[in-house]
Amino acid sequence: MTGKDRVLALLLEADGEAISGQEMAEKLQISRSAVWKSVKALQKEGYRIQGVTNKGYVLLSESEKLSEAAIRKYLGKKYEDCRLCIYGEVASTNRTLRELADEGAKEGTVVLAKCQTEGRGRRGREFYSPADTGLYMSILLRPQMEISDLMMVTAASAAATAEAVEAITGTETAIKWVNDVYAKGKKVSGILTEASFSLENGSIDFLIVGIGVNVLEPEGGFPESIQEKAGAVCQRDQCPEGIRNVLAAEIIKRVLSYYRTLPERTFYPSYKEKMLWMGEKIFVHTADKKKPAIAVGIDDRCSLRVRYEDGTEEILRTGEISV
Ligand code: BTN
Repeated sequence: MTGKDRVLALLLEADGEAISGQEMAEKLQISRSAVWKSVKALQKEGYRIQGVTNKGYVLLSESEKLSEAAIRKYLGKKYEDCRLCIYGEVASTNRTLRELADEGAKEGTVVLAKCQTEGRGRRGREFYSPADTGLYMSILLRPQMEISDLMMVTAASAAATAEAVEAITGTETAIKWVNDVYAKGKKVSGILTEASFSLENGSIDFLIVGIGVNVLEPEGGFPESIQEKAGAVCQRDQCPEGIRNVLAAEIIKRVLSYYRTLPERTFYPSYKEKMLWMGEKIFVHTADKKKPAIAVGIDDRCSLRVRYEDGTEEILRTGEISV
């Protein structure tokens, strides 16, 4: 962390109380003038820090800015090993994290960005990623598992994200198979998991779990192409303060917790319970048409069992469905 981030961490820790420049200088083992410079820099970045006579500085409210210090505060000790890399604008957090992974970044490295210029979704689609209204993050995993079990990580991440959104915003969530998170009938989050394989032994080298959440509806609404389907997890006037930092921490914690207990399938009850359209009529998308079917259920490998109109059944390992 930079000196500025460490000053911010102390202000956040003080939780709305004033903390003196002297105390911060002693704790961080830097000069008072260095503390002052950090405070000025933070104010310039938009943090509402007020000087209180004879008491020091107080952080008035956590701004909506993504910050390592704020995310760390919510992550807590158990996840202090995570490396957090926060960027302004990137093409795609998945792509940035892939570069770090190729350079040897360790498991638990997380890339977050304010906005993405080339946010990617499943099936080569674009993921709309404007500044300030969304959360865009990618988590690096280095699993030792069968390639056929990769789906579990995606499903577990969907359950983790849905639960995190619900815990932080109070908005009820559901999962559209395989891994889209829905709230109030609209898609509020998507997950793109990308793997890199080692050619030498055919094993998984690393896995990137890219998660995008529409936190707020953009001013002027979503673009026309996604207007009908896309939604946000909270309303502008009811949004918890510092939501993107809190939500990022909550998602990281839950994804890593489910990942670490993957052999026990701890995510499975939640994933299954949140699954949309079970027992209902759906359409299974094939290359050139949509085939009507009934969604029969989810099996213990997170595959979807469907029954077609002619009575035949199929187990779908991956794919796309709609109603
Ligand atoms: C989908 O809905 O099809 C998946 C969307 C995944 C979007 C996230 S945002 C962070 C990460 N970076 C990307 O380019 N994509 C994922």
